[in-house]
Amino acid sequence: MTQSYETILLERRDRVAIVTINRPEKRNALNIQTRAEGAAILDELRADDSVRVVILTGAGDKAFIAGADIAEFADRSAIDQREVMLERSLFNAIDTFPKPIIAMVNGYCLGGGCEVALACDVRIASEKASFGQPEINLGIIPGGGGTQRLTRLVGEGKAMELILTGAIIDAQTAFAIGLVNHVVAADQLEAKTMEIANRMAEKSPIALRLAKEAIRLASRSNLDEGLRREVDLFALCFSSEDKDEGVKAFLEKRKPDFKGK
Ligand code: COA
Repeated sequence: MTQSYETILLERRDRVAIVTINRPEKRNALNIQTRAEGAAILDELRADDSVRVVILTGAGDKAFIAGADIAEFADRSAIDQREVMLERSLFNAIDTFPKPIIAMVNGYCLGGGCEVALACDVRIASEKASFGQPEINLGIIPGGGGTQRLTRLVGEGKAMELILTGAIIDAQTAFAIGLVNHVVAADQLEAKTMEIANRMAEKSPIALRLAKEAIRLASRSNLDEGLRREVDLFALCFSSEDKDEGVKAFLEKRKPDFKGK
């Protein structure tokens, strides 16, 4: 059963779920409630076998997510802030999400918003989107994985420049440094994202999950460990009915019908 959420919209299109952060009047800034609801909705989708791919986006035509809700920072002590960040976090819920999760970046993608996008598997941007980690302008630093994931994705020099200057870059620049996978016209964003999501959604959910696990090891383990685990995960695919179906369908020259078993 779908719970109701105040700050998030959930739409299902066949095997794809679209999660929309819905605070457009605040440029979809992440307050405590949005983070908690975001994590809860991902827990719900994680357990729902009918959902094979998730798209994350922001409501309205201005923002994906304009960062953490700065208003909540005003009177917060260090101890309180630490508590907030150690609670079940949206970043962690995305990071540990076993199905493909795609950021459909429709506008401002700043601070915690950029960190949300970075935690996703794939980023598709509208040409109207912009990106940045402007925390330094507030006298703070990224705290949702920005210093780590951005650096791994674009390299230390570019991450240093973005985080230390707080510069906002446009979608084409984000594409040029490898921060996003594709940039498309604003009116093509949904179609392009759905195309990629649907391509993933027709694959074996088991293979998708194991592929994600293996790819993530590349930045979290050394090469020998990663290669060793890849062999284990590859072999594990052989325990699935989906592997039998995939091989059989190829030999019979037909499209496979993966059941996730
Ligand atoms: N936290 C809290 N509120 C935010 C917010 C954020 N991160 N980003 C935007 N808002 C709020 C604004 O305060 C404003 O609220 P109000 O109407 O009650 O005054 C509303 O959203 C609209 O913002 P506004 O600045 O008028 O919209 P804009 O389209 O002209 O500019 C931004 C959009 C995103 C460029 C600008 O709002 C901004 O710089 N936001 C902060 C980005 C940031 O530093 N993020 C990192 C946080 S760690």
